[in-house]
Amino acid sequence: MKTSLLSAGLALIASAAAYPQFMDLKNLDLKNLGFESNSNSNSNTNPNTQSSWQPKEWIAPGSDDSRGPCPGLNTLANHGYLPRNGKGITLKILEDGMLEGFNIEHADAVLLFFQAIRTSPIPFNDRFDLADLGRHGILEHDISLSRSDAYFADPKPFNETVWAETMSYFTTPMISVEQLAKARMGRLATSKKTNPDFELSWLADGFSWGECASFFEIMADGTTGTVRKEYIDYWFRNERMPTELGWQRRNVTMKSAERMKYSGLLMKAAGVTKRDVASDAYGYPLH
Ligand code: HEM
Ligand SMILES: [Mg+2]
Repeated sequence: MKTSLLSAGLALIASAAAYPQFMDLKNLDLKNLGFESNSNSNSNTNPNTQSSWQPKEWIAPGSDDSRGPCPGLNTLANHGYLPRNGKGITLKILEDGMLEGFNIEHADAVLLFFQAIRTSPIPFNDRFDLADLGRHGILEHDISLSRSDAYFADPKPFNETVWAETMSYFTTPMISVEQLAKARMGRLATSKKTNPDFELSWLADGFSWGECASFFEIMADGTTGTVRKEYIDYWFRNERMPTELGWQRRNVTMKSAERMKYSGLLMKAAGVTKRDVASDAYGYPLH
């Protein structure tokens, strides 16, 4: 076991600080989103950046390969930025895969890694499999945009019915922050109404906003507050980078703070205010 409990604990504290529940949203103004211009001179630019970027080969997973509820990591595995069998993902593998595949900074991989290993069925493991992420109630949660609630069906695979519900909110070729916020709140309303086992922990609630934020950070370049609907649909359905539709990996390396910013914008668009530690954003007591 290479991971010490101390470093895991520190990383958890760091990751908690990165979740939007702690954000003060009052200063975020949706009318003036404050998106920076697309600055390629940003010092965080990945040195590997090319003007026309081509991903590694996409290969559909085989029946023995491990895949889970995360379209981001499944995609990285399908392109070979993570082990194609989806198994034994260590911190180093994750850091390299997230940077090379999606241009996400190492610190972000560290933050998520120490969440991910909590889902391994092997206590204190220093690696995880993609399917581990689908163990309900650790990180996997209800109200997913493209996956069933665990009460109804396996929450790991893409689910056509759930996705159709989410897509119904995307009424224009470009998805906006407001549309995605509505879609996420719509999924929440559906789960509350139909799922007798509905629950959304404080952590899952924060994760869910962060997942939405990835639309703008990874499928767009993090500067526009909009993303092409066809990129998102292609990505979710195929778990493949939509380069054949014109998508390019972002030029400027994504920092965790960006996810906080977009999570905040999404929450604000949904009318969700600053969270406290006694109840979730919707008034449910925390578990
Ligand atoms: C170690 C890194 C990561 C971990 C541990 C992780 C974990 C997860 C988990 C457990 C879920 C399932 C939550 C649920 O919907 O029930 C999820 C969903 C999701 N992840 Fe990741 N993820 C990681 C990286 C990424 C990356 C790099 C992206 C973007 C490219 C991404 C985008 C998403 C999206 C959009 C969803 C929502 C899917 C849906 O609601 O249907 N994730 N992730
Ligand atoms: Mg889920």
